[in-house]
Amino acid sequence: MVIGTPGVGKTTVSQKLATILDASYINITEIVKKENLETCIDSDRETLIVDPENVFKKIQEILDNTKGIIVIDGHFVVYVVPKNEVDLVFVLRRDPRELREVLQKRGYNDKKLWENITAEMLDVCLVDALSTYDSSKVCELDVTGKSIEFVIEEMLFLLNNRRECKHGVIDWLGKLELEGQLEEYLKKLD
Ligand SMILES: Nc1ncnc2c1ncn2[C@@H]1O[C@H](COP(=O)(O)OP(=O)(O)OP(=O)(O)O)[C@@H](O)[C@H]1O
Ligand SMILES: [Mg+2]
Repeated sequence: MVIGTPGVGKTTVSQKLATILDASYINITEIVKKENLETCIDSDRETLIVDPENVFKKIQEILDNTKGIIVIDGHFVVYVVPKNEVDLVFVLRRDPRELREVLQKRGYNDKKLWENITAEMLDVCLVDALSTYDSSKVCELDVTGKSIEFVIEEMLFLLNNRRECKHGVIDWLGKLELEGQLEEYLKKLD
């Protein structure tokens, strides 16, 4: 699985990784849209609200019908992929300042932009992965300033050398504080 805050680069790297591994590629957001699994739209956030149980069932069905390796791309902070089916969870992390640029380019409104930056600052996806999947399967990857090719190389290395997998080493709050920008970012969270 490849998870992370919107804009960290999940889709870009997952698709390339799937090609290299000769694996199938599944994008949970696309499945939700295609199968109409959303229950409503949060217009404030321009976001779809899903019913996790329905998504879980659909993903299970797809996994049952797919042979070989599967790369799953999704940012849902709910449990939608069966635990026993998951081999490794890559949590992509991007420095909040770089993420801000990506999300600004996408034209996110301020509310959505800062909600996502806050989620990244507070390790929401990592915490979620650790509370859902076996921690030995959770692998945090800082993609800040790295080329897509470099990120893929790192993923391939970690797939082959799982003992090198680490989590809990990224500390955006500490980094922002050290670089004198924490206050500016915390003010935006009001
Ligand atoms: N390693 C990278 N270096 C530079 N730019 C990247 C990298 N990975 C992705 N990008 C760029 O960052 C942007 C966001 O990437 P992408 O759409 O893959 O993110 P995502 O995590 O799938 O987002 P979402 O959750 O909204 O689907 C894209 O413009 C992409 O080209
Ligand atoms: Mg994506």
